[in-house]
Order: sequence, then C-alpha cells, then structure tokens
Amino acid sequence: MKINLVEKNITKVKSDIEIIFVDSIKNLEDEEILENLGFEAKDESVVLLAESKKIYVGFELNYYDSIAIAIATAVKKFNSTKFKNAKIQLGNLNLKALVEGALLGSYIFDNYKSEKKKKQKQELNICIEKITKDLEKIFEDSIEISKAVNKTRDMVNTTPADFYPETMASIAKKIAKESNLECTIHGEKYLEKNGMNSMNSVGRASIHESKLIHLSYKPENAKKKIVLVGKGLTYDSGGLSLKPADYMVTMKSDKSGGCAVLGIMSVISKLGLDIEVHGIVGAVENMIGGDAYKPDDVLVAKNGKTIEVRNTDAEGRLVLADCLCYAQDEIKDIDYIFDYATLTGACVVGVGEYTTGIMGNNTQLKREVVASALESGEYATSLPFNRFLRKTIKSEIADICNIANTRYGGSITAGLFLDNFIYNENKEKWVHFDIAGPAYVEKAWGYNPHGASGTGVRMTLEFFKNIK
Ligand code: BES
Ligand code: ZN
Ligand code: ZN
Repeated sequence: MKINLVEKNITKVKSDIEIIFVDSIKNLEDEEILENLGFEAKDESVVLLAESKKIYVGFELNYYDSIAIAIATAVKKFNSTKFKNAKIQLGNLNLKALVEGALLGSYIFDNYKSEKKKKQKQELNICIEKITKDLEKIFEDSIEISKAVNKTRDMVNTTPADFYPETMASIAKKIAKESNLECTIHGEKYLEKNGMNSMNSVGRASIHESKLIHLSYKPENAKKKIVLVGKGLTYDSGGLSLKPADYMVTMKSDKSGGCAVLGIMSVISKLGLDIEVHGIVGAVENMIGGDAYKPDDVLVAKNGKTIEVRNTDAEGRLVLADCLCYAQDEIKDIDYIFDYATLTGACVVGVGEYTTGIMGNNTQLKREVVASALESGEYATSLPFNRFLRKTIKSEIADICNIANTRYGGSITAGLFLDNFIYNENKEKWVHFDIAGPAYVEKAWGYNPHGASGTGVRMTLEFFKNIK
C-alpha cells in the first residue's frame, strides 16, 4: 500500500472512502447507525458504511499503540474492498503511529501459498492543512522504518530449507550493496583459525557452513560508534539435547536477533544518522549428527575462557560469546554494544510474549533503552542481574558452564553468561536484548499478524534517533 501526505483540507481531497477515528460516538453524524451496528469507540472496533463511504474505527487514547492498532484495523477493512484510495485527517493524531500501524498492519507473508493474495494498488492519503519540515521527516522516516521491520519479518518467516547461514550472508551482501556498507563474511576456516571454537562447535553437525557476518556503516564525522550483535540461529533443533517435538516448531525464528540487526543495517543510511554502526551476526544451524558437539564437551571461546557444555540447546549464548569477543577485538572505542537474541524460553515465561527483556550493567543506559523501546511502539522491561545468580553458572571443570544449576531466573543467568564475554572497558556500554517472546507471534496481536514481528528494529532506531 502506498501512503501519501497530502497538504489540503480533507474535504477537498477526492477519495473513494474516508477513515474516521472515533474516541466517542456521541454527537457523530452517524451516531444512531453506529450504535445499531454495535460499534464501540474501542480498539479493533470497525464499521464500513459503504453508502456514505466511511470506515469508522475506534481508538482509546492518542498513544502509539492505540493509533497503530486503529489504523491497522481500518486498513484491513479498506484492503478487503475494491476501493482504490482512502483518506484520513491527521488532526492531532500521532503521524508515526499512523504510518507504521498502516504499513506493519497490512503486512502479508504468502511466499508459501500456492495462491497469493492479489497485491492491490491501494493508496492511503493522510490529509493535513500545512506540512512542516518536521512532519515530513517523521513521515519519511516512518515509511523507511516500517520497510525495515517488514524486511526483517520476511527473513525470519522464511523456512530453514530456504534460509540457512549462507542465505543470511548473501542477504547481508545485498544489503551492503544497496546501502553502501562495508561487508565481510567469514566461514568456518576463519572461526577455527581465530579461536572461535565456541561458535564453531554449535554449527558442526549442520550440512550448512556457519557464517560470521560483519556489516559496517561509517559516515564521516560520526559522533558515536555502535556495535549490534545478533543471534542468527537459522534453525535450533536443540542439538543432541534435542528439543521435544512441540518446542521445535517455530525454531526457524531463532535467527530473529540476527535478522533484526540486518534490518537495522539496511535502513541506517536512509535515516541520515551521523553514527558509525557495525552489525555482526553469528549465522549457524544447531543440528544433530555424528559430528555434533556434545553435553560434556569443553569449548574454548575467543577470549580464552573455557565453557563446559551441559546442554546443547543453550547454543545461542555460545555463538554470541564468540561474536561479542570478535566485535570487541575488531572494533575499538565502542560507545554502545547491543546484542539481540531469542535466547531463553525463561524470558517468555517471565515477562510474557509481548515484551523484550533488557539486561546489562548500566542502570541508566538500560532505562534509556527501555524508554526508547516504549516510545517506538515496542514493549520492553529491565531484568536485574544479581550476585547470587551469577554464581549459578560456575563450573566444576571449566571457567563457566553454559547452563545454570538452578531452575529459576533463566533469562538472567543467560545474560550473566554473556557478561563473561564483555571486556572490562565495555561493561557499562553493553545491553543485552532477549527477544524470545515478541520476535515470533503465534496468535496475532495488535498490528502483528501471525509470524515474525521484526522485534528490535524500531526500538533500536528510536534509541539511535535520541543519541545526543
Ligand atoms: N532458542 C531457544 C530459546 C527460545 C525458546 C526462543 C522459545 C524462542 C522461544 C534457546 O536456544 C534455548 O533453547 N534455550 C533453552 C536454554 C536452556 C537449555 C538453559 C531454553 O530456554 O529452554
Ligand atoms: Zn536452543
Ligand atoms: Zn536458540
């Protein structure tokens, strides 16, 4: 769907249908008919009055969520008609939420359907009497951000037979070409030569070669240097600690962190931000086989720390350990280092399937990250490290163990594991995002259809925007 910002009084804009946001039906021209149709001024309540060419949609608050859900609901109704264009008055509605809600809410992934939904050439005109520079920038950025989220969704939704580490590497190369980024791809020989035994072990039983992807955006006079690291498990069977059948389904989404990093890298130059950004992805498939790494193995990570493997399904942290070391060895004077991972089922249990768990050593930074997330339309909350949980990942035979000796606090112990691979100079600059809950949507919610949500993209870009 195409969205236009139109500088005209809405009554003068020709259109097949008008979308009207309603927070109270009192005194509306169509009050009686809306009441009879059971319409309520609530989220997801929508009515199409074909004769008077109106779509009424309810909303509760002039907040991002409510606006985005309302426009997504209205656009779905509009998409179900043959009308070519719709108009809506911006008024005092949040423009970013309007654009993103429309574009994220009308996302369809039908690559695997034999009959594709016809891509209708519909347009939405957002009408406003005076377009300011600020509004225009918000409008254009929101379109780019939505495209990046949908691109991330496309990658995550692609099945493991069609999307394996090499696929991820070629997509990274394509993104680099389109956006003028530097791109380096390393294979298993590099991992072996450079002591990345932790990451390399996870992918050993896969027929697909593991790939370490490094994209960088380096504008002149960058005011900050930021590193994004993503878990790119193109499939997580659990390895020899094999997942039960029901838990394995959806594990194509275990690459969501890596895909979010690629999505962010694809849009960064378009937003005109003067920051240097590196995107590093560990693309690996966790499989079983005669060559598989095993519970009982001891792995040596890039920083020399030894890791006792007690569960091959806690593989994401093994991949990230080496990727975090690689990032810090290759890139000096980092201002922020963020990692994104569908790391633990425990995070989903703890904070629910809508929310990202934010961890790290810097309270102030975590606060800023959570604030950016909420501002961007994503849900996030901080999870606290503590000294007792830190002790639960000690090992009798190696420096550290890849699982904790307690059943509780699994997302925090995973975060604490990663902390072992953050160098002293970067301790306060690091934030870990556990996106296991929101990255993949099994029951559609808000403007997220079934499947990948593109979690991480919007909140990170919002954080970037707020960097002073
Ligand atoms: N990829 C999973 C985590 C996950 C679970 C993501 C559910 C999305 C939805 C991760 O690799 C994993 O299997 N973690 C284990 C860790 C455990 C063995 C300590 C888990 O959460 O059960
Ligand atoms: Zn796993
Ligand atoms: Zn995993």
